[in-house]
Amino acid sequence: MDRLKIGLIGDIVGKVGRNMVISNLERLKKEYQIDFVIANAENASGGFGLNYKNANELLNAGIDVITGGNHSFDKSEIIQFMDSLPILRPLNYPLGVVGKGIFVKDNIAVINIMGHYGININVDNAFVTLENAISEVKKNGIKNIIIDFHAEASSEKRMAFCMTRGKISALFGTHTHIGSDDLQIQMDSFYVSDLGLCGAYDGVIGMEYEAPLQKAKMGYGKSHFKVLENGNNIFQMAILTLENGKCKDALKIRILNEKRLQDINAINL
Ligand SMILES: [Fe+2]
Ligand SMILES: [Fe+2]
Repeated sequence: MDRLKIGLIGDIVGKVGRNMVISNLERLKKEYQIDFVIANAENASGGFGLNYKNANELLNAGIDVITGGNHSFDKSEIIQFMDSLPILRPLNYPLGVVGKGIFVKDNIAVINIMGHYGININVDNAFVTLENAISEVKKNGIKNIIIDFHAEASSEKRMAFCMTRGKISALFGTHTHIGSDDLQIQMDSFYVSDLGLCGAYDGVIGMEYEAPLQKAKMGYGKSHFKVLENGNNIFQMAILTLENGKCKDALKIRILNEKRLQDINAINL
C-alpha cells in the first residue's frame, strides 16, 4: 500500500516564522514519521516575498516544496531560481509568467492556485485552472494530489473543495495567516480553510500593528510594514495520513513559543 504522511505549513512570516520552522520541523518529522512537507513561504523574507538565502534555509530545514501567492515575486531575485528549486507560484498566473504552479515528485503532485476576492492581481480563473490541472495530473496516474488554495475568501476555498473532494487528497487554504478550526475529511479528501501563519502571534497577521493601523485610520502610512519581532510566536502544521491517495486521518499541531497547545483533530465526515 502507498502510505504517506504529509506535513502542511501555512504562510511563514519573516525571520520569526523561519526560526519557528527551523526549531520545530525536524523533531516533528521524526516524531510523526512525516515523508513530505509543503509550506507557503510568500512572506518568509522580511514579510514580503522570498529571497534565495531564505528559500535554501527553509528547504534545508526539512521542507520539500514551497508554495506562494500574491507575494511570490516581491523579492525579484527569486525569479532566476524558480525553475531550479522546488518553489511554486500560483498556477493561474497568466501564460508567460516565470515559474511553475505544479510540482510532481514520485506519486505526489502539489498544485498552487490563487483566488480572486480581495487580491489585486489579474490571474486566470482559479476554478477552471484547478479543474484542468487535476485532470492532467490524474492522466499521469498520480494518486496523491495536494492543493494550496491561496485566497482571502473562505467561500472561494469551500467552492474549490466542493468541486474537488473525492478526486484529491487534500486542499488547504493559505493567505489569511489566521488558522481556522474547520479541519475535516470528506470523501477521503482533507480540507481546512486556512492553516494560519508561522510567525509572530501578537500583531496583525505577523506584522507590527502600528503601520497598518495608521493606514487604516488615516488613509496613508507614515512607515513601512514591519515583521513583529518581540512577543509570542506560533508554529502550526497539519499532518495528514494518506493511503493510496486517500486522506484517512489528520490533525493540526500548534506550538506557541515552546508550549504545545491542544491539537485540532480533523472531523471525519
Ligand atoms: Fe501570506
Ligand atoms: Fe497572500
